[in-house]
Amino acid sequence: MTEKPSQNSASRSDASPSRSGAFDAAVDQRVQRFSESISFDRRLFRQDIAGSIAHARMLSDQGILTAEEADSIERTLGQIRDEIESGQFVFREELEDIHMNIEQALIDRIGDVGRKLHTGRSRNDQVSTDMRLWVRDAIDQLDAALEDLQRAFVGRCDLDRGVILPAYTHLQRAQPVLAAHYWLAYAEKFQRDRDRLADCRKRLNLCPLGTAALAGTSIDIDRENTANRLGFDGLVENSLDSSSDRDYLLETAFCLSTIAIHLSGWAEEWILWSTVEFDFISLPHEFCTGSSIMPQKINPDVLELTRGKSAPVVGSLQTLLLLTKGLPLAYNRDLQEDKRPMFVAVDTVSGCLECAIPLVKGARLKVDSIQRRLEKGFLDATTLMEYLIKRGIPQRKAHHLIGSLVKAATGKGCTLTELPLSDFRALDPGIDESVFDVLGCENAVAAFQSFGSTAPAYVASQVKSWKTRLNHV
Ligand code: ARG
Repeated sequence: MTEKPSQNSASRSDASPSRSGAFDAAVDQRVQRFSESISFDRRLFRQDIAGSIAHARMLSDQGILTAEEADSIERTLGQIRDEIESGQFVFREELEDIHMNIEQALIDRIGDVGRKLHTGRSRNDQVSTDMRLWVRDAIDQLDAALEDLQRAFVGRCDLDRGVILPAYTHLQRAQPVLAAHYWLAYAEKFQRDRDRLADCRKRLNLCPLGTAALAGTSIDIDRENTANRLGFDGLVENSLDSSSDRDYLLETAFCLSTIAIHLSGWAEEWILWSTVEFDFISLPHEFCTGSSIMPQKINPDVLELTRGKSAPVVGSLQTLLLLTKGLPLAYNRDLQEDKRPMFVAVDTVSGCLECAIPLVKGARLKVDSIQRRLEKGFLDATTLMEYLIKRGIPQRKAHHLIGSLVKAATGKGCTLTELPLSDFRALDPGIDESVFDVLGCENAVAAFQSFGSTAPAYVASQVKSWKTRLNHV
């Protein structure tokens, strides 16, 4: 049965589906504007429709709707989805949110059958179902992008095979490492991000649908049925908890924040590396911008924005934490404000990843420039100290002795390799020419042995295992 739009009482703002006969006045226009969420929650339309179709099918399996009624609901919701996708659907602010816009469109088209859809559910379980489905999709897309980023880093290991970089602590030259060791450090960080997202997805992928407003329902629904149809792994078990729970958004926002922070640190590093002062890397020009006044400038704006855009992501986590602080059970309207920060966090991180992947692939290490200054900063001093330790000198003593040797070399303006053997013998008369085998960055790198270190054999095995893990060719 179809009702003409002219009979649609919901075009007046006092007739939203959520305003029952209990009201004796229409909603104030200011409240309507203040409380609407359709301007942003319309992004949930696919999830909302999927949830409604699953709910209608379950109601029909339970004999609460007839199969024909469920068919009609499913067909009409499919048309509504197509209209929204093609931009033809008119969203109405007076219908407040995505749930009521879609439900009212359904009622406008199929009348009383549409009015039965909301049986045994509430917008409180509906909105949480929609958000869980939306975030689940977002997590799956982010995971794929993070994997691509890892592939880009692992791909660099072959490109930069054998290159040695100075590694830093306190942004002061510390010890030499293979470039591949550097790239795999980022593969590890983004793996933890992926693992965190996967872990968060487990708790998120439980179905709240059917917990209704806060206490469940006296209608004979089958929650397993809807959960299975929507690809959930299980059910949220307490209806009060269900109606109020937004932990899955907090966790996701935290995961997104760590990704943003990792990207920001990497971006900062490459901004430094691309300066004349470092001169370690050249960035692909498709990912650089110019200056309107200084013709020589080739700026790393994408990296700067990646660093800057971590702010709104971490801000989203803060917003969600504060939003959910001090809310009594169960649903409170505050929770409507959970969507924008979540959308901002997901959109921002996705945008950063989209540019980071080609940047990591397209940048080139300036090997000659790196090589030219590699022996500056006594990167081999720690390995030399370990050489003394292996000769039986206690670590604290060896540390002190090498410190004075560094001081002497600094005074002479030379490297440790350039010191005469007699300077080493002054520390320990037993030292012979073999000391030079651990000096210089190449020798120092080759001397590493421990698991997790930059030892060339270990790094090579790590590169191999990452390639297998990422199905890298
Ligand atoms: N637009 C609302 C939200 O996003 C839907 C739930 C409304 N529930 C209610 N009891 N008013 O949270």
